[in-house]
Amino acid sequence: MRPNILLCILYLYLTIRMVRIITSSQLPKDKKICLVTLTANNETVVQLLKTGQKNLCIGIGPDRKKITRRKLISLARKMVRLAKSHRLERLTVETHNLIFPHLKMLPMDLAEVLATNWELANFDFNQYKTPPKEGFPNVEEITLTGDGLSEWKKGLEKGSMTGDYINRCRVLCNIPGGEMTPDRMAKDTIKVVAKSKVKVHIMGQKEIEKNKMGALLGVARGSVEEPRFIVMEYRGGGKEKPIVLVGKGITFDSGGLNIKPGDHMHSMHMDMTGGAVVIHTVALAAKLGLKCNVVGLVAAAENMPSGNSYRPGDILTSMSGTTIEVMNTDAEGRLVLADALTYAKKYQPRLVVDVATLTGAALVAVGMRASVIMTKDEKLQNLFMELGEKSGDYVWPLPLWEEFEDEIKGTFSDIINTGKTRWAGTVHGGMFLYQFAKEYPWIHMDIAPRMTSTEGDYLGKGATGEPMRLLIKLLEEYK
Ligand code: BES
Ligand code: ZN
Ligand code: ZN
Repeated sequence: MRPNILLCILYLYLTIRMVRIITSSQLPKDKKICLVTLTANNETVVQLLKTGQKNLCIGIGPDRKKITRRKLISLARKMVRLAKSHRLERLTVETHNLIFPHLKMLPMDLAEVLATNWELANFDFNQYKTPPKEGFPNVEEITLTGDGLSEWKKGLEKGSMTGDYINRCRVLCNIPGGEMTPDRMAKDTIKVVAKSKVKVHIMGQKEIEKNKMGALLGVARGSVEEPRFIVMEYRGGGKEKPIVLVGKGITFDSGGLNIKPGDHMHSMHMDMTGGAVVIHTVALAAKLGLKCNVVGLVAAAENMPSGNSYRPGDILTSMSGTTIEVMNTDAEGRLVLADALTYAKKYQPRLVVDVATLTGAALVAVGMRASVIMTKDEKLQNLFMELGEKSGDYVWPLPLWEEFEDEIKGTFSDIINTGKTRWAGTVHGGMFLYQFAKEYPWIHMDIAPRMTSTEGDYLGKGATGEPMRLLIKLLEEYK
């Protein structure tokens, strides 16, 4: 076999290892299987049972009514993370442990939430590590026992699929910037949607120039890597106007000539998270056969300092004709998105959602437990907060008041790519994008806060793949 074929197989093996979820009417007798029980205290222990099987007891406190939807999501993940830490590979759970009647969840919904979060918690980005002799800890199988499981089956399948696609997204985000270039992102997009109903078109340097995407070209100029503009189209919804998802695909953000301080740079290979989320959401929508029309646009470039870089003070002409003075080369995300938002107009979209790791200030504003949303449309804002709670990709709004518009006006250009004041950096980012999104319903998601996992997420270190779950719910439910 040719070495690159071998590598390809190895890559697939390492990245696409899903939990086998089995439904059964009886508890399996196999001694290697570990029972999981939720107990009415606050302790977590592994017991050895008379049958020779182990029992992982997870304390959830005496009052089961205190479990919320949020806590259920954490619990599902905690179960798998604990199993991994004890190297328990095969688990079995009696479903009565997992049913909380006061949450009023339909079996399909409950099954989907559990399966998605089991998959997410089972993922660790290990592909660059030498495996230990006994292999990396991994939950291979979960057997569910109880009544009425036929109603769970669809939810389990959908949840597994969702978790799997989110994990693929996390792989793309975690791969170092030296490898995950704009071109590699484009090529991986083609691979992700192979044999599906998604059409992909990749624009290279020349076509981007032809489209006069001056803001994207400006950002890309400092890098030896050429930009790519990725267009994905999935039509599962007949003649309706599409929802357009727009992603920031900065494959490495050094800051450019306004170079970032050293300790703020190392995670910037994940600055293409918005793009990876868009790519995998469109791919998953097709895989699930959702009855909707969706377009994915990803503006991919690398932000590097060099003799050919765009400079602070340069004035770029965006695809829309709006001129932008570059006050800071590190505010590059909004520049590449400006052209993508303009390109989105050609679809006469019924909604545009942009997804971007746009500002460090979003972390200052909300911490690491929610993405920021910004829109002029209050209904859309409320819908996104609801979808956030349902999906587990939590979001919180910041204002887009008219008054802020003055703070991004230019002196020698139409607008500037930062704010005139130090305050409300995230709002400036949103207000800048709004200048290019006035002709359709639009919402901006600043996902910088959720780019990487944090304590209490019960996820492996690195990318989270958020807000894919929220976007899939949006595609299912948006009327
Ligand atoms: N990619 C960064 C934002 C970021 C920071 C994402 C931390 C994830 C974690 C973005 O391009 C950036 O550098 N923004 C600047 C904007 C400023 C120069 C107006 C920032 O946040 O400092
Ligand atoms: Zn930046
Ligand atoms: Zn950036």
